[in-house]
Amino acid sequence: MTQLWGGRFSGPTDALMRQFQDSIRFDVRLWEADIDGSMAYAKALAKVAIITTDESTQLQAGLAKVRAEFSEGRFELKPADEDIHTAVERRLGELVGAVAGKLHTGRSRNDQVATDTRLWLKRQIVGLRQQLVDLQQVIIAQAIAHLNIIIPGYTHLQQAQPVRLSHWLLSYGWMLQRDKERLADLTRRVDVLPLGSGALAGNPLGIDRQFLATELGFATISANSMDGVSDRDYLLEFLSWAAIVQIHLSRLAEDLIIYSSREFGFIELADAYTTGSSIMPQKKNPDSLELIRGKTGRVIGNLMGLLTTLKGLPSTYNKDLQEDKEPLFDTIDTLNMTLPIAAGVMATLKVRPMAIDHALDSLMLATELADYLAKKGLPFREAHHLVGQIVQKSLELGTSLKTMPLSLYQQFSPLFEADIYEWLTFERAVDRRACHGGTGLEAVKAQLEQLQQLVIR
Ligand code: ARG
Repeated sequence: MTQLWGGRFSGPTDALMRQFQDSIRFDVRLWEADIDGSMAYAKALAKVAIITTDESTQLQAGLAKVRAEFSEGRFELKPADEDIHTAVERRLGELVGAVAGKLHTGRSRNDQVATDTRLWLKRQIVGLRQQLVDLQQVIIAQAIAHLNIIIPGYTHLQQAQPVRLSHWLLSYGWMLQRDKERLADLTRRVDVLPLGSGALAGNPLGIDRQFLATELGFATISANSMDGVSDRDYLLEFLSWAAIVQIHLSRLAEDLIIYSSREFGFIELADAYTTGSSIMPQKKNPDSLELIRGKTGRVIGNLMGLLTTLKGLPSTYNKDLQEDKEPLFDTIDTLNMTLPIAAGVMATLKVRPMAIDHALDSLMLATELADYLAKKGLPFREAHHLVGQIVQKSLELGTSLKTMPLSLYQQFSPLFEADIYEWLTFERAVDRRACHGGTGLEAVKAQLEQLQQLVIR
């Protein structure tokens, strides 16, 4: 017998069909979860006396050998191993003999693969969360190092109002904080054990599912076997989570690409994260960031792919569900690169204060002028209009708002007095935003502390 299901067949499977349906080339990475699941199941079978304690011990010992072969890279795949479940069971049989045939009693590959994938993903999530924390730490360190640098803040990619560099950096720290929260939330729905659902109708042996959950470290067990074998919502949630993370990284990458351009020059990327051109000797290209931005497309695509696979499936297990794994694996492989690369780029970039200073346009103080007049009693709408005219004048004359003569200001409004010049500085503009969430020094220090508290927890 070469297949787990060969009994009712008299003819072989078409060769191309074999290739078409085999999943071993990608699901082999579930080996450890598959072995853990089988270990627990062997114990549970003994608990309900379907196998003897002695048989259970033989199965455990055999599975331990299979585990060792995998972890030492000695496991040999055979052509008939259509998926990881088949491969592990086949090898177990070679090692312990006929008793291996008892392991699958009451179990189906349907509840088995659902269990393996959840167990594997739970373990991956631990590492992903840590990578989010690592990136947050780098962002926090850079924010602390550059608290006193003021950069142009942009809306519509036009200079809008001055902000602290740290404030901009921390905005990404908060995005990642929400990503961590979302991850924790969705993990609750990953952390559900389907084992004991059988093919679809449930387990006929009175297997102790709570025991299985405890053995495998699952928080709860699924409540409906039909849902248990076919629920892939947790993968959709995970893939949408990943797409959101990538969008955050992609936007960060885009900011950094712009800021590192010759025209901006606010930052310089380290050699370690840039590459040269084969024809233009002067080039230092931000490939790391372009790839982070570019790979966002495939991560979004993986989500769209699985959504489309699931749409229109009749209930319980259909082989279409085998298509859940490649998008999941590809997404995790991608994040396992983009997150540490983003952290590396952020940790090694150099800030160029001179270029930043040079870029600060006094027109960004126009809101300050309007606020100044509003503070002196002029309705803000009127002040806004008036300052619009002042801006036009300054552009006509080619003078900075900071140095335009007081007499000229007073032609627009008698409310202008000599104190306007101390009001019109970037530092002042920034530090006036002192209320919670603003870009003023004290406010930024407070949010920094708030974020730090959340990151170490
Ligand atoms: N390789 C399969 C998958 O990933 C395992 C489950 C097979 N179940 C079945 N009824 N053929 O979905």
